[in-house]
Amino acid sequence: MVIAELEAALAYIRQQTDLRPSVGIILGTGLGGLTQEINISHTIDYADIPHFPVSTVESHSGKLIFGTIGSRTVVAMQGRFHYYEGYSMQQVTFPVRVLKMLGIETLFVSNAAGGLNPTYQKSELMIINDHINLLPENPLTGKNLDQFGVRFPDMFHAYSPSLIAKALQIAPSLDVKVHQGVYVSVSGPNLETPAEYRYLNIIGADAVGMSTVPEVIVARHMELPVFAVSVITDLCYEGAIQPVTVAEVIEAAHKAEPSLTKLMCQLIEQLE
Ligand code: HPA
Repeated sequence: MVIAELEAALAYIRQQTDLRPSVGIILGTGLGGLTQEINISHTIDYADIPHFPVSTVESHSGKLIFGTIGSRTVVAMQGRFHYYEGYSMQQVTFPVRVLKMLGIETLFVSNAAGGLNPTYQKSELMIINDHINLLPENPLTGKNLDQFGVRFPDMFHAYSPSLIAKALQIAPSLDVKVHQGVYVSVSGPNLETPAEYRYLNIIGADAVGMSTVPEVIVARHMELPVFAVSVITDLCYEGAIQPVTVAEVIEAAHKAEPSLTKLMCQLIEQLE
């Protein structure tokens, strides 16, 4: 059933483009600017792809963008799906399965997140080196899709150590400041209370957001290497917490866009 839907989506995309992407990119809130670095050969609206969910958040336009960055072939998801929008975890992660079927060998992910670590400032970048999943459902629940991966996928290297090492090496030469830390996923859509932010930091998280973890779990189920970055859009530690609006989150994300774009593009171009 799911496999037939995935195959229908794949078949439709293959009819539209011959490009065989080796890299997949999921662009988060306010971070669509990376698409300007793509030498675009084809764009497909999510709404035209059979069984693809359609984005409902205004800050996310739903498109698959095919093209090249340097010598790499890429497919970027402009707009992603969140659990808080009412999608099932299967829907949230459907596109990641499709990207894998299209042939990608590495997945790049970005998101907007609240900074829990008191050394973080607004619009700084955090390379995700681990996560804590507090979402109420798991995308791998139900019958295992044996074609894609094992029943109990390991999560020791959820985020590729070699890509993290490469990014840490590249960042100073690009004059980009990066942190490394743990991302915790929550369901939202409300932001957290001060007590919840404190709790999330105490259990070991450096940044909090409402996305990414389902996609990463499904990517790792398929043994796809993942590199993910959070843009810190609001500060969530004592002394810095303030009421936050979506507009402020988007503005802070936009501010970080040039740095994030430089880092991602360099990393993609230097892939082995
Ligand atoms: N909490 C949860 N998700 C977020 C936040 C936050 O403070 N900022 C951006 N996404």
